[in-house]
Amino acid sequence: MPTLNWSDTLLLDFAPMDDMHREFVNLLADVENCPDSDLARHWDALISRTQALFGREDDWMKSTHFSSGSNHVLQHRVVLNVMREGLGLARSGESTQVRDMAAELARWFAKHIQSLDAALALHLRGQSAFQGIPA
Ligand SMILES: [Fe+2]
Ligand SMILES: [Fe+2]
Repeated sequence: MPTLNWSDTLLLDFAPMDDMHREFVNLLADVENCPDSDLARHWDALISRTQALFGREDDWMKSTHFSSGSNHVLQHRVVLNVMREGLGLARSGESTQVRDMAAELARWFAKHIQSLDAALALHLRGQSAFQGIPA
């Protein structure tokens, strides 16, 4: 049973972000559900999609001059660094540590969506340039 399951409470009413968040939750569940022998592969896949997700949010903050974005960008950077350390652990067979990290990441992610991402989504929904953005 994964630590975090997708639910409508995680929706921010901004489809491009919601879609990537749902993908993250599913990939993280794959990490938590897979056997140790597949852990590094799933963790690596999660990192690459997380990089895309954080990068896109960072770009939105930059392009819309979102004034409270610096702490948000910093959180993304710190979390990605920790995840990259986790990949080293996964590759050297430290599965328990990686599984602890995955559970912690799931708890962090839910909080992150409901705080910093929620503020960003609210901001983006108010930007006329984003109203017609394809999902
Ligand atoms: Fe996000
Ligand atoms: Fe974020």
